Amino acid sequence: MRQTGNTILITGGTSGIGRALAERFHAAGNKVIIAGRRQALLDEVTAANPGIAGYAVDMVDGAATDAFVQGVLADHPALNIVIANAGIMRAEDASHRRDLSDAEEMIATNLTAPIRLIDALVDHLSAQADAAIVTVSSGLAFVPLAATPTYSATKAAIHSYSQSLRWQLRGKVEVIELAPPAVQTDLTPGQATNAAYMPLQQFTDEVMALFALTPTPAEIQVSTLPFLRHAEAEGRYDATFEALNNSYGH
Ligand SMILES: NC(=O)c1ccc[n+]([C@@H]2O[C@H](COP(=O)([O-])OP(=O)(O)OC[C@H]3O[C@@H](n4cnc5c(N)ncnc54)[C@H](OP(=O)(O)O)[C@@H]3O)[C@@H](O)[C@H]2O)c1
Repeated sequence: MRQTGNTILITGGTSGIGRALAERFHAAGNKVIIAGRRQALLDEVTAANPGIAGYAVDMVDGAATDAFVQGVLADHPALNIVIANAGIMRAEDASHRRDLSDAEEMIATNLTAPIRLIDALVDHLSAQADAAIVTVSSGLAFVPLAATPTYSATKAAIHSYSQSLRWQLRGKVEVIELAPPAVQTDLTPGQATNAAYMPLQQFTDEVMALFALTPTPAEIQVSTLPFLRHAEAEGRYDATFEALNNSYGH
């Protein structure tokens, strides 16, 4: 992936990983466009980083996503990279019959929305030089956290989808899967201050260094990810599953 001179759309750019990547890519000499629902945070990020453009959109709304993509392409026809980062994570007790609205929202946000966003952009990106699609999965794509069954399943699906997309777009668009480990953000309550999680700045430093490799790895895996990513290949899947879920305390 080219490091500078790109036009990059980052969904979920109002906070956490998306905001951190937006600020780094902006500082590195790229045109950055962020999207999210919270207008006040879009305003804050764009004011703090003159040149970043912000768009308010709810990515679970298909018609709104289509209109948003048309607007972004009209305003930024040089767009050549999308980072489909927006996501939500909620705990669920699947051991009893339950209200499935959390499960449905996670599937809509973490799986359907990126599929729809990428679909809306694929013809445009295929016609661009140096085009890339970055999907955002998780270490939990590889070993599920039992307390978040639907979340973990959506991320496993994103890993799978990324591989199929990479194959279909080979020679046209680079498909890169960013698989974060546990990082200090506001994704779940208390996570931003959890000392067991990787500080956001360290995570972003490592991610930017990996993006800068030539060629860019198909999977961006920071230093703590292999514990989950390679558990099965290294013959320690069951032990890793138990360690992960025991450490979570459920
Ligand atoms: N932090 C971790 O430990 C970790 C680990 C593995 C994977 N990830 C993944 O990394 C990505 C970013 O998460 P994060 O940790 O940075 O959490 P975060 O700070 O909560 O960021 C999530 C972002 O997604 C946006 N978003 C959520 N629902 C949306 C919707 N319906 N429409 C538009 N935007 C929406 C939010 O913006 P608005 O609220 O303004 O809409 C926010 O900017 C997610 O896909 C997450 O699953 C995170």
